Amino acid sequence: MKTNVNLKPYNSFGFDAVAKHFAEINEIQELESLIRSDVFKHEKYLILSGGNNVLFRDDFFDGVVVYINSKGIEILHEDGNEVVVRAQAGEDWPDFVRFCVGKGWHGVENLAHIPGKVGAAPVQNIGAYGMELKDNFLRCEAMDLTTGETKVFTKKECRFGYRESVFKNELKGQYIITSVDFLLKKDAPLNLEYGNIKSYLEQNGIERPSLQQLHDAICAIRDAKLPDVKQIGSAGSFFKNPVIERALFEALQKDSPTMPHYDEPNGKVKVPAGWLIEHSGPSTLRLASGTAGSGTAGATSWKGWRNEHVGVYEKQALVLVHYGGGTGQDIVELAHRIQDSVEEKFGIRISPEVNFV
Ligand code: EPU
Repeated sequence: MKTNVNLKPYNSFGFDAVAKHFAEINEIQELESLIRSDVFKHEKYLILSGGNNVLFRDDFFDGVVVYINSKGIEILHEDGNEVVVRAQAGEDWPDFVRFCVGKGWHGVENLAHIPGKVGAAPVQNIGAYGMELKDNFLRCEAMDLTTGETKVFTKKECRFGYRESVFKNELKGQYIITSVDFLLKKDAPLNLEYGNIKSYLEQNGIERPSLQQLHDAICAIRDAKLPDVKQIGSAGSFFKNPVIERALFEALQKDSPTMPHYDEPNGKVKVPAGWLIEHSGPSTLRLASGTAGSGTAGATSWKGWRNEHVGVYEKQALVLVHYGGGTGQDIVELAHRIQDSVEEKFGIRISPEVNFV
Protein backbone atom coordinates (compact mmCIF):
# COMPACT_ATOMS: atom_id res chain seq x y z
CA MET A 1 0.00 0.00 0.00
CA LYS A 2 1.27 3.46 -0.90
CA THR A 3 0.54 6.75 0.84
CA ASN A 4 -0.22 10.22 -0.52
CA VAL A 5 -0.81 9.19 -4.11
CA ASN A 6 -2.06 11.76 -6.62
CA LEU A 7 -5.16 10.36 -8.32
CA LYS A 8 -4.87 12.53 -11.42
CA PRO A 9 -3.94 9.57 -13.68
CA TYR A 10 -6.80 7.58 -12.14
CA ASN A 11 -9.73 9.88 -12.92
CA SER A 12 -10.72 10.74 -16.47
CA PHE A 13 -11.63 14.32 -15.51
CA GLY A 14 -7.94 14.69 -14.68
CA PHE A 15 -8.44 16.45 -11.35
CA ASP A 16 -5.71 16.56 -8.75
CA ALA A 17 -6.80 14.70 -5.64
CA VAL A 18 -4.48 13.01 -3.21
CA ALA A 19 -5.34 9.68 -1.61
CA LYS A 20 -4.07 9.13 1.91
CA HIS A 21 -3.65 5.41 1.12
CA PHE A 22 -3.66 3.72 -2.26
CA ALA A 23 -3.79 -0.03 -2.83
CA GLU A 24 -3.45 -1.47 -6.31
CA ILE A 25 -5.00 -4.92 -6.62
CA ASN A 26 -3.54 -7.17 -9.30
CA GLU A 27 -4.65 -10.50 -7.83
CA ILE A 28 -7.91 -11.14 -6.03
CA GLN A 29 -6.02 -12.72 -3.10
CA GLU A 30 -4.44 -9.31 -2.47
CA LEU A 31 -7.92 -7.90 -2.03
CA GLU A 32 -8.77 -10.47 0.61
CA SER A 33 -5.73 -9.57 2.69
CA LEU A 34 -6.41 -5.86 2.24
CA ILE A 35 -9.95 -6.27 3.55
CA ARG A 36 -8.60 -8.01 6.65
CA SER A 37 -5.94 -5.35 7.27
CA ASP A 38 -6.19 -2.82 10.10
CA VAL A 39 -5.96 0.18 7.80
CA PHE A 40 -8.94 -1.04 5.80
CA LYS A 41 -11.00 -1.70 8.92
CA HIS A 42 -10.42 1.77 10.35
CA GLU A 43 -10.39 4.05 7.36
CA LYS A 44 -13.09 4.93 4.86
CA TYR A 45 -12.52 3.51 1.41
CA LEU A 46 -13.22 4.14 -2.22
CA ILE A 47 -13.24 1.48 -4.92
CA LEU A 48 -11.75 2.85 -8.08
CA SER A 49 -12.04 1.03 -11.35
CA GLY A 50 -11.17 2.99 -14.48
CA GLY A 51 -12.08 6.30 -12.78
CA ASN A 52 -14.17 7.20 -15.81
CA ASN A 53 -17.32 7.98 -13.93
CA VAL A 54 -16.12 9.73 -10.78
CA LEU A 55 -15.83 13.33 -9.80
CA PHE A 56 -13.46 14.21 -6.98
CA ARG A 57 -15.01 17.23 -5.28
CA ASP A 58 -12.09 17.70 -2.89
CA ASP A 59 -8.36 17.62 -3.35
CA PHE A 60 -7.81 15.02 -0.62
CA PHE A 61 -9.35 11.60 -0.03
CA ASP A 62 -8.93 10.82 3.63
CA GLY A 63 -8.98 7.04 3.41
CA VAL A 64 -7.98 4.05 1.28
CA VAL A 65 -8.42 4.08 -2.48
CA VAL A 66 -8.60 0.53 -3.82
CA TYR A 67 -7.60 0.40 -7.48
CA ILE A 68 -8.69 -2.80 -9.21
CA ASN A 69 -6.26 -3.91 -11.88
CA SER A 70 -6.71 -7.70 -12.06
CA LYS A 71 -6.40 -9.12 -15.59
CA GLY A 72 -7.56 -12.21 -17.45
CA ILE A 73 -10.14 -13.41 -19.95
CA GLU A 74 -11.15 -17.08 -20.12
CA ILE A 75 -13.75 -19.21 -21.84
CA LEU A 76 -15.83 -21.04 -19.25
CA HIS A 77 -18.10 -22.90 -21.60
CA GLU A 78 -18.65 -23.29 -25.31
CA ASP A 79 -21.61 -25.04 -26.81
CA GLY A 80 -23.08 -24.77 -30.31
CA ASN A 81 -23.82 -21.11 -30.82
CA GLU A 82 -23.05 -20.02 -27.27
CA VAL A 83 -19.95 -19.09 -25.40
CA VAL A 84 -19.61 -18.09 -21.76
CA VAL A 85 -16.67 -15.77 -21.20
CA ARG A 86 -15.25 -14.57 -17.90
CA ALA A 87 -13.33 -11.31 -17.68
CA GLN A 88 -11.49 -10.15 -14.59
CA ALA A 89 -12.61 -6.80 -13.18
CA GLY A 90 -9.41 -4.94 -14.06
CA GLU A 91 -9.57 -5.74 -17.78
CA ASP A 92 -9.94 -2.68 -19.95
CA TRP A 93 -13.53 -2.62 -21.28
CA PRO A 94 -12.76 -1.49 -24.85
CA ASP A 95 -10.00 -4.15 -25.07
CA PHE A 96 -12.44 -6.81 -23.87
CA VAL A 97 -15.00 -5.77 -26.50
CA ARG A 98 -12.29 -5.81 -29.19
CA PHE A 99 -11.23 -9.28 -28.05
CA CYS A 100 -14.80 -10.64 -28.29
CA VAL A 101 -15.39 -9.04 -31.68
CA GLY A 102 -12.06 -10.45 -32.89
CA LYS A 103 -13.25 -13.92 -31.92
CA GLY A 104 -16.53 -13.34 -33.74
CA TRP A 105 -18.62 -13.36 -30.56
CA HIS A 106 -21.73 -11.20 -30.55
CA GLY A 107 -23.22 -9.41 -27.59
CA VAL A 108 -21.01 -6.49 -26.58
CA GLU A 109 -20.13 -4.90 -29.93
CA ASN A 110 -22.44 -1.87 -29.57
CA LEU A 111 -20.70 -1.11 -26.28
CA ALA A 112 -17.39 -0.64 -28.10
CA HIS A 113 -15.03 2.15 -27.07
CA ILE A 114 -16.74 3.01 -23.77
CA PRO A 115 -13.82 3.97 -21.56
CA GLY A 116 -13.54 2.02 -18.33
CA LYS A 117 -12.90 -1.39 -16.87
CA VAL A 118 -14.93 -4.57 -16.86
CA GLY A 119 -15.66 -4.45 -13.12
CA ALA A 120 -17.31 -1.05 -13.33
CA ALA A 121 -19.52 -1.95 -16.29
CA PRO A 122 -22.28 -3.70 -14.28
CA VAL A 123 -22.29 -1.04 -11.54
CA GLN A 124 -23.95 1.49 -13.80
CA ASN A 125 -25.16 -0.98 -16.44
CA ILE A 126 -23.28 0.81 -19.20
CA GLY A 127 -25.26 1.35 -22.37
CA ALA A 128 -24.90 2.75 -25.86
CA TYR A 129 -26.32 2.40 -29.36
CA GLY A 130 -29.33 0.33 -28.39
CA MET A 131 -27.49 -2.14 -26.15
CA GLU A 132 -26.98 -2.36 -22.42
CA LEU A 133 -24.51 -4.45 -20.47
CA LYS A 134 -27.38 -6.38 -18.87
CA ASP A 135 -28.49 -7.74 -22.27
CA ASN A 136 -25.70 -10.33 -22.40
CA PHE A 137 -24.61 -10.39 -18.79
CA LEU A 138 -24.79 -13.79 -17.15
CA ARG A 139 -23.47 -13.28 -13.60
CA CYS A 140 -20.66 -11.65 -11.68
CA GLU A 141 -18.55 -12.45 -8.67
CA ALA A 142 -18.09 -9.85 -5.99
CA MET A 143 -16.25 -9.73 -2.70
CA ASP A 144 -17.99 -8.71 0.49
CA LEU A 145 -15.98 -5.85 1.92
CA THR A 146 -16.71 -6.74 5.52
CA THR A 147 -16.11 -10.49 5.44
CA GLY A 148 -13.81 -10.95 2.42
CA GLU A 149 -16.14 -13.68 1.15
CA THR A 150 -17.03 -14.04 -2.52
CA LYS A 151 -20.64 -14.04 -3.65
CA VAL A 152 -22.07 -14.82 -7.09
CA PHE A 153 -24.72 -12.35 -8.29
CA THR A 154 -27.18 -13.52 -10.92
CA LYS A 155 -28.59 -11.06 -13.42
CA LYS A 156 -31.78 -10.83 -11.38
CA GLU A 157 -29.89 -10.12 -8.17
CA CYS A 158 -28.05 -7.26 -9.86
CA ARG A 159 -31.39 -5.42 -10.32
CA PHE A 160 -30.28 -3.64 -13.45
CA GLY A 161 -32.02 -0.50 -14.64
CA TYR A 162 -31.11 2.43 -16.87
CA ARG A 163 -27.58 3.27 -15.61
CA GLU A 164 -28.51 1.54 -12.36
CA SER A 165 -27.81 -1.66 -10.43
CA VAL A 166 -27.93 -2.96 -6.89
CA PHE A 167 -24.23 -2.02 -6.56
CA LYS A 168 -25.08 1.66 -6.95
CA ASN A 169 -28.06 1.51 -4.64
CA GLU A 170 -28.94 -1.01 -1.89
CA LEU A 171 -25.44 -2.54 -1.80
CA LYS A 172 -23.46 0.63 -2.45
CA GLY A 173 -19.95 0.34 -0.98
CA GLN A 174 -20.55 -3.18 0.29
CA TYR A 175 -19.08 -5.30 -2.52
CA ILE A 176 -16.28 -5.15 -5.04
CA ILE A 177 -17.00 -6.85 -8.35
CA THR A 178 -14.06 -9.15 -9.08
CA SER A 179 -15.10 -10.78 -12.37
CA VAL A 180 -17.98 -10.72 -14.85
CA ASP A 181 -19.37 -13.59 -16.97
CA PHE A 182 -21.03 -12.89 -20.31
CA LEU A 183 -23.20 -15.17 -22.41
CA LEU A 184 -22.23 -14.39 -26.00
CA LYS A 185 -23.37 -15.80 -29.34
CA LYS A 186 -21.22 -16.97 -32.23
CA ASP A 187 -23.93 -15.90 -34.62
CA ALA A 188 -26.64 -13.34 -33.98
CA PRO A 189 -28.35 -10.48 -35.82
CA LEU A 190 -26.56 -7.15 -35.54
CA ASN A 191 -28.34 -4.25 -33.89
CA LEU A 192 -28.09 -1.35 -36.33
CA GLU A 193 -31.24 0.46 -35.30
CA TYR A 194 -29.92 3.16 -33.02
CA GLY A 195 -29.34 6.73 -34.11
CA ASN A 196 -26.91 7.24 -36.95
CA ILE A 197 -25.38 3.75 -37.25
CA LYS A 198 -27.20 3.04 -40.51
CA SER A 199 -26.45 6.42 -42.04
CA TYR A 200 -22.78 6.11 -41.06
CA LEU A 201 -22.55 2.69 -42.73
CA GLU A 202 -24.33 3.97 -45.82
CA GLN A 203 -22.02 6.96 -46.11
CA ASN A 204 -19.08 4.57 -45.94
CA GLY A 205 -20.49 2.29 -48.60
CA ILE A 206 -21.06 -0.64 -46.23
CA GLU A 207 -24.26 -2.44 -47.12
CA ARG A 208 -24.14 -5.58 -44.98
CA PRO A 209 -21.69 -4.89 -42.16
CA SER A 210 -19.72 -7.62 -40.47
CA LEU A 211 -19.42 -7.72 -36.69
CA GLN A 212 -16.01 -6.08 -36.99
CA GLN A 213 -17.32 -3.35 -39.29
CA LEU A 214 -20.14 -2.54 -36.87
CA HIS A 215 -17.64 -2.36 -34.02
CA ASP A 216 -15.39 -0.04 -36.02
CA ALA A 217 -18.34 2.13 -37.07
CA ILE A 218 -19.40 2.61 -33.46
CA CYS A 219 -15.85 3.56 -32.49
CA ALA A 220 -15.80 6.16 -35.27
CA ILE A 221 -19.24 7.56 -34.34
CA ARG A 222 -18.21 7.88 -30.70
CA ASP A 223 -14.90 9.50 -31.63
CA ALA A 224 -16.74 12.12 -33.66
CA LYS A 225 -19.04 13.07 -30.76
CA LEU A 226 -17.22 12.48 -27.53
CA PRO A 227 -13.95 13.97 -26.31
CA ASP A 228 -10.87 11.79 -26.10
CA VAL A 229 -10.23 11.63 -22.35
CA LYS A 230 -6.50 11.51 -23.00
CA GLN A 231 -6.77 15.04 -24.36
CA ILE A 232 -9.76 16.66 -22.64
CA GLY A 233 -10.91 15.59 -19.19
CA SER A 234 -14.49 14.31 -18.97
CA ALA A 235 -16.57 11.49 -17.58
CA GLY A 236 -18.66 10.79 -20.68
CA SER A 237 -22.32 11.64 -20.19
CA PHE A 238 -22.50 13.69 -17.03
CA PHE A 239 -26.29 13.47 -16.63
CA LYS A 240 -28.85 10.73 -17.15
CA ASN A 241 -31.61 11.19 -19.69
CA PRO A 242 -34.70 12.03 -17.61
CA VAL A 243 -37.88 9.98 -17.81
CA ILE A 244 -40.92 12.23 -17.46
CA GLU A 245 -44.70 11.92 -17.25
CA ARG A 246 -46.45 11.90 -20.60
CA ALA A 247 -48.62 14.89 -19.60
CA LEU A 248 -45.54 17.02 -18.95
CA PHE A 249 -43.99 15.90 -22.21
CA GLU A 250 -47.13 16.80 -24.17
CA ALA A 251 -47.25 20.22 -22.53
CA LEU A 252 -43.57 20.85 -23.38
CA GLN A 253 -43.99 19.62 -26.92
CA LYS A 254 -46.38 22.51 -27.65
CA ASP A 255 -43.53 25.00 -27.23
CA SER A 256 -40.76 22.66 -28.38
CA PRO A 257 -42.11 20.49 -31.19
CA THR A 258 -38.61 19.33 -32.16
CA MET A 259 -37.79 17.83 -28.76
CA PRO A 260 -36.53 14.27 -29.39
CA HIS A 261 -38.19 11.61 -27.24
CA TYR A 262 -38.39 7.86 -26.72
CA ASP A 263 -41.44 6.06 -25.35
CA GLU A 264 -40.79 4.02 -22.24
CA PRO A 265 -42.63 0.75 -21.52
CA ASN A 266 -44.47 2.28 -18.53
CA GLY A 267 -46.18 4.98 -20.60
CA LYS A 268 -43.62 7.59 -19.59
CA VAL A 269 -41.29 9.39 -21.97
CA LYS A 270 -37.48 9.61 -21.99
CA VAL A 271 -36.06 12.92 -23.17
CA PRO A 272 -32.36 13.43 -24.07
CA ALA A 273 -30.69 15.57 -21.42
CA GLY A 274 -28.23 16.70 -24.12
CA TRP A 275 -31.08 18.35 -26.02
CA LEU A 276 -32.47 20.03 -22.87
CA ILE A 277 -29.01 21.37 -22.01
CA GLU A 278 -28.42 22.59 -25.55
CA HIS A 279 -31.75 24.41 -25.43
CA SER A 280 -31.05 26.17 -22.16
CA GLY A 281 -28.12 28.33 -21.21
CA PRO A 282 -26.67 30.76 -18.70
CA SER A 283 -29.19 33.34 -19.91
CA THR A 284 -32.05 31.02 -18.87
CA LEU A 285 -31.11 31.51 -15.23
CA ARG A 286 -33.04 34.27 -13.53
CA LEU A 287 -30.23 34.91 -11.08
CA ALA A 288 -26.84 34.51 -12.69
CA SER A 289 -24.53 33.05 -10.04
CA GLY A 290 -21.50 30.86 -9.56
CA THR A 291 -18.88 30.12 -12.19
CA ALA A 292 -18.21 33.19 -14.27
CA GLY A 293 -18.03 32.42 -17.96
CA SER A 294 -15.56 34.55 -19.79
CA GLY A 295 -17.27 36.01 -22.80
CA THR A 296 -20.12 33.53 -22.88
CA ALA A 297 -21.85 34.39 -19.58
CA GLY A 298 -25.08 35.47 -21.27
CA ALA A 299 -25.12 32.69 -23.86
CA THR A 300 -28.50 31.23 -24.72
CA SER A 301 -27.12 27.69 -25.07
CA TRP A 302 -24.81 25.75 -22.79
CA LYS A 303 -23.44 23.79 -25.70
CA GLY A 304 -19.84 24.88 -26.22
CA TRP A 305 -19.96 27.21 -23.19
CA ARG A 306 -16.71 27.39 -21.28
CA ASN A 307 -14.75 29.41 -18.79
CA GLU A 308 -11.04 29.15 -18.23
CA HIS A 309 -11.07 25.64 -16.79
CA VAL A 310 -14.33 23.81 -17.44
CA GLY A 311 -17.18 23.77 -19.91
CA VAL A 312 -19.82 21.92 -21.89
CA TYR A 313 -18.44 19.94 -24.82
CA GLU A 314 -19.18 21.66 -28.11
CA LYS A 315 -20.24 18.47 -29.93
CA GLN A 316 -22.33 16.86 -27.16
CA ALA A 317 -23.99 18.96 -24.47
CA LEU A 318 -24.38 15.99 -22.13
CA VAL A 319 -20.63 15.94 -21.55
CA LEU A 320 -18.98 18.33 -19.10
CA VAL A 321 -15.30 18.86 -19.74
CA HIS A 322 -12.20 19.94 -17.84
CA TYR A 323 -9.72 21.84 -19.95
CA GLY A 324 -7.06 21.79 -17.21
CA GLY A 325 -6.20 23.81 -14.14
CA GLY A 326 -9.70 23.45 -12.65
CA THR A 327 -11.09 21.61 -9.66
CA GLY A 328 -13.95 19.24 -9.04
CA GLN A 329 -15.80 22.16 -7.44
CA ASP A 330 -15.78 24.01 -10.78
CA ILE A 331 -17.64 21.08 -12.35
CA VAL A 332 -20.02 20.82 -9.39
CA GLU A 333 -20.91 24.51 -9.75
CA LEU A 334 -21.37 24.27 -13.48
CA ALA A 335 -23.51 21.16 -13.09
CA HIS A 336 -25.75 22.98 -10.60
CA ARG A 337 -26.18 25.93 -12.92
CA ILE A 338 -27.09 23.62 -15.77
CA GLN A 339 -29.57 21.72 -13.60
CA ASP A 340 -31.16 24.99 -12.44
CA SER A 341 -31.47 26.43 -15.91
CA VAL A 342 -32.93 23.24 -17.39
CA GLU A 343 -35.40 23.13 -14.52
CA GLU A 344 -36.34 26.77 -14.97
CA LYS A 345 -36.95 26.35 -18.66
CA PHE A 346 -38.50 22.89 -18.84
CA GLY A 347 -39.58 22.03 -15.29
CA ILE A 348 -37.35 18.94 -15.32
CA ARG A 349 -34.58 18.37 -12.77
CA ILE A 350 -31.89 16.33 -14.50
CA SER A 351 -29.68 14.16 -12.30
CA PRO A 352 -26.02 13.23 -12.67
CA GLU A 353 -24.95 9.75 -13.70
CA VAL A 354 -21.42 10.47 -12.51
CA ASN A 355 -20.51 9.43 -8.95
CA PHE A 356 -19.50 12.30 -6.69
CA VAL A 357 -16.77 11.48 -4.19
N1 EPU B 1 -28.85 15.94 -28.58
C1 EPU B 1 -28.91 17.28 -28.77
N2 EPU B 1 -27.85 18.05 -28.37
C2 EPU B 1 -26.75 17.50 -27.79
C3 EPU B 1 -26.69 16.13 -27.58
C4 EPU B 1 -27.76 15.34 -27.98
O1 EPU B 1 -29.89 17.81 -29.30
O2 EPU B 1 -25.85 18.27 -27.49
C5 EPU B 1 -29.95 15.10 -29.07
C6 EPU B 1 -29.50 14.31 -30.30
O3 EPU B 1 -29.69 15.02 -31.45
C7 EPU B 1 -30.36 13.09 -30.25
C8 EPU B 1 -30.58 12.89 -28.77
O4 EPU B 1 -30.26 14.10 -28.12
O5 EPU B 1 -31.61 13.34 -30.85
C9 EPU B 1 -29.78 11.74 -28.21
O6 EPU B 1 -28.41 12.00 -28.40
P1 EPU B 1 -27.32 10.81 -28.52
O7 EPU B 1 -27.79 9.80 -29.47
O8 EPU B 1 -26.00 11.44 -28.73
O9 EPU B 1 -27.38 10.08 -27.14
P2 EPU B 1 -27.48 10.62 -25.67
O10 EPU B 1 -28.82 10.36 -25.13
O11 EPU B 1 -26.99 12.02 -25.62
C10 EPU B 1 -26.75 8.28 -24.69
C11 EPU B 1 -25.85 7.78 -23.61
C12 EPU B 1 -24.40 7.74 -24.09
C13 EPU B 1 -24.33 6.83 -25.28
C14 EPU B 1 -25.27 7.40 -26.38
C15 EPU B 1 -25.32 6.53 -27.60
C16 EPU B 1 -26.90 8.41 -21.53
C17 EPU B 1 -26.84 9.28 -20.31
N3 EPU B 1 -25.96 8.62 -22.45
O12 EPU B 1 -26.42 9.65 -24.93
O13 EPU B 1 -23.61 7.18 -23.05
O14 EPU B 1 -23.02 6.72 -25.79
O15 EPU B 1 -26.62 7.49 -25.85
O16 EPU B 1 -26.04 5.37 -27.35
O17 EPU B 1 -27.78 7.56 -21.61
C18 EPU B 1 -22.17 7.63 -21.20
O18 EPU B 1 -23.01 7.07 -20.50
O19 EPU B 1 -21.10 8.12 -20.72
C19 EPU B 1 -22.45 7.78 -22.62
C20 EPU B 1 -21.64 8.47 -23.42
